[in-house]
Amino acid sequence: MSTTPELIAKLEKLGDEFLAQAQPLADEQSIRAAQAQFLGKKGKVSELMKELGKLPPAERPQVGAAANKVKEKIEQLVEACLVRIANAAKQQDLARKVDITLPARPVGGGHLHLLTQVRQEAVAVFAELGFVVAEGPQIETDWHTFEALAIPKDHPARDMQDTFYVSEEIVLRTHTSPVQVRTMLTQPPPIRIVAPGHVYRRDDDPTHSPMFTQLEGLAVDTDISFSDLKGTLLHFVKRFFQKDLGIRLRPSYFPFVEPGAEVDMQCSFCGGSGCRICKQTGWVEIGGAGMVDPDVFKNVGIDSERFTGFAFGMGIERMAMLRHGVNDIKFYYEGDVRFLEQF
Ligand code: DAH
Repeated sequence: MSTTPELIAKLEKLGDEFLAQAQPLADEQSIRAAQAQFLGKKGKVSELMKELGKLPPAERPQVGAAANKVKEKIEQLVEACLVRIANAAKQQDLARKVDITLPARPVGGGHLHLLTQVRQEAVAVFAELGFVVAEGPQIETDWHTFEALAIPKDHPARDMQDTFYVSEEIVLRTHTSPVQVRTMLTQPPPIRIVAPGHVYRRDDDPTHSPMFTQLEGLAVDTDISFSDLKGTLLHFVKRFFQKDLGIRLRPSYFPFVEPGAEVDMQCSFCGGSGCRICKQTGWVEIGGAGMVDPDVFKNVGIDSERFTGFAFGMGIERMAMLRHGVNDIKFYYEGDVRFLEQF
């Protein structure tokens, strides 16, 4: 049981005690803990104040004032300690040595996807010959995709293109050929268009993807001949691959052209001598082509007595593969930067 002067002395001593305890502390958490030890509900100041009730009432205000003073002092010491450690941390930061001569980490620059590059380059070659780009929807009517191209519903050629049907009359286009139809319906000859774009088929293996990219070509005018087709394709192959490669047209059947042909080019890898890419044959297939069938002209309202035309369609992935030897079509779509960065 202390007297009033004793209690006041004890309270006053708490300030120094706190200082001694807090000074060596180097982080906020321990300073806060010390603060609680002194000022908390069960802290040292509260402990001493329990004795207040035993003092004569007249002396109590004096002790209360002393308690307030010491509380204030401790608060100030807490603040000072916090400022001290904040400064120390800043000092430490400033003292840290940074090697400003270290080369910066390279920031990867983006670039066009390989298929986009190839598509743009192919379009540029055809642009030199006067072809302009035309586009059509990827979700297409059955009529534009098949019927207008002389492929009726029961036609066996439909089996060649396993179709994704959206509804009975709406499909995901299986080829870019419907853009031929849309162009001829809206634009009178002369026509010279190329139509690059995505197409969809129910097909999935290392050389086939359910979505891939084709480039369609169409020329319609008063005196277009098969030799124009051949010259156009030959020019394309030489310019695109920047090599003196030959082409070969093998008779083939597509309902919308007559005559129709499959287009081969000399293998850009081996120049025609035979390698893994061309399976030792020296030739690789790049697409289909032919002279626009009069039935197609009829369907789009072009006079086949006056006009003739050629058309072709080729695979962009195929072009990219022949340029770079990519052997699995999935690489194009996976978005793996280790693959994409190579081009
Ligand atoms: N559309 C055909 C396909 O995807 C390719 C094709 C063949 C396009 C002959 C043509 C062509 O324009 O004349 O299999």
